[in-house]
Amino acid sequence: MLVAALRRRSVARPPLWLMRQAGRYLPEYRALRQRAGDFLELCYNPELAAEATLQPVRRFGFDAAILFSDILVIPDALGCPVAFEQGAGPRLEPVRDETAVDRLRRDRLLEHLAPVYEAIRVVRRSLPAETALIGFAGAPWTLAAYMIEGGSSSEFYAARAFALRRPDIFAKLITVLIEAVVEHLAAQIAAGADVVQLFDSWAGILPEPEFERWCQAPARAIVTRLNARHPEVPIIAFPRGAGVRYRSYAQAVPVDGLSLDTTVSLAWAREALPDVCLQGNLDPAALLAGGVVACREARRIVAALGERPFVFNLGHGVLPQTDPAAVAALVDYVRSVRLPERGEP
Ligand code: CP3
Repeated sequence: MLVAALRRRSVARPPLWLMRQAGRYLPEYRALRQRAGDFLELCYNPELAAEATLQPVRRFGFDAAILFSDILVIPDALGCPVAFEQGAGPRLEPVRDETAVDRLRRDRLLEHLAPVYEAIRVVRRSLPAETALIGFAGAPWTLAAYMIEGGSSSEFYAARAFALRRPDIFAKLITVLIEAVVEHLAAQIAAGADVVQLFDSWAGILPEPEFERWCQAPARAIVTRLNARHPEVPIIAFPRGAGVRYRSYAQAVPVDGLSLDTTVSLAWAREALPDVCLQGNLDPAALLAGGVVACREARRIVAALGERPFVFNLGHGVLPQTDPAAVAALVDYVRSVRLPERGEP
């Protein structure tokens, strides 16, 4: 059903999955996480990562499972070690000069990430045939931002200043990341992913010329190469915060789906983004507010987008404080929607 909607075929109701549908809001995830100890150990343990992937599908019956992993496994695989400290978010060894970029190891990516592909094979064996499996990667700009900053930030000024001061070195880093993302996504597809999503979580903080150079152009390179290798696999991109630049992004990057963040006006999106399946964009805060509020907001979104190719999702990930009962109510509502038949595109 997810693949059909992304291919712009008519579906009986909107397919539904949620970003961060696995995670701390689920008691069964918290128990699993405790067993694994470290977050990255959970990501690199195929059986446990597969279990975390399946938990929300078992509980809610989503139309898709998203691989349980993290975007920062790519820097980790390139030899820029990542650690997750309790409550502090990710910490990376900062990449701040040309020597550090040259030191990145491109030769052992698939070997280092082999447990991720094994997790995909384990999930595929236990997933119902009608449930799609989504693989993913971080986009080069977002990965580079974490690598240069050495962790999370609200504005990533160090990374932005670096890209402005030394665009030559920054371009080298982006080129390494384009290559790594293509390899990582192609390997996930080979292992059994039916759809892949590219997360550019920090696209929105770049001014226009940098947005074009560091978000749009790399995404175009990645999507073009994956489409040539795997034309059967739809690709979704999430340039979070892109605002009106969602339009130029959609024109430049040949994706099947575009994931909208919470701030995008749906009336605008309907006009500006006509040829792509839209995904989104319920505010995670509406889900936090509770099932009744979430269903009211969901109804507004379905009314605006339901009659075009559309996938129901949030505008960003499920928050850890969310009540699973609110998610269950939202799932009940979306599953009750009936869409009229559309002519084939
Ligand atoms: O359910 C899913 O969506 C699949 C798994 C998934 C995770 N991270 C698990 C995770 C996915 C798709 C991601 C993507 C990711 N990771 C992004 C892009 C999407 C976004 O949120 O913008 C980014 C920027 C990251 C980097 C990252 N990972 C940060 C900044 C953090 C710390 C913040 C936090 O929420 O704790 C993580 C950790 C992380 N990734 C957790 C999970 C379930 C929490 C770890 C824990 O159990 O403590």
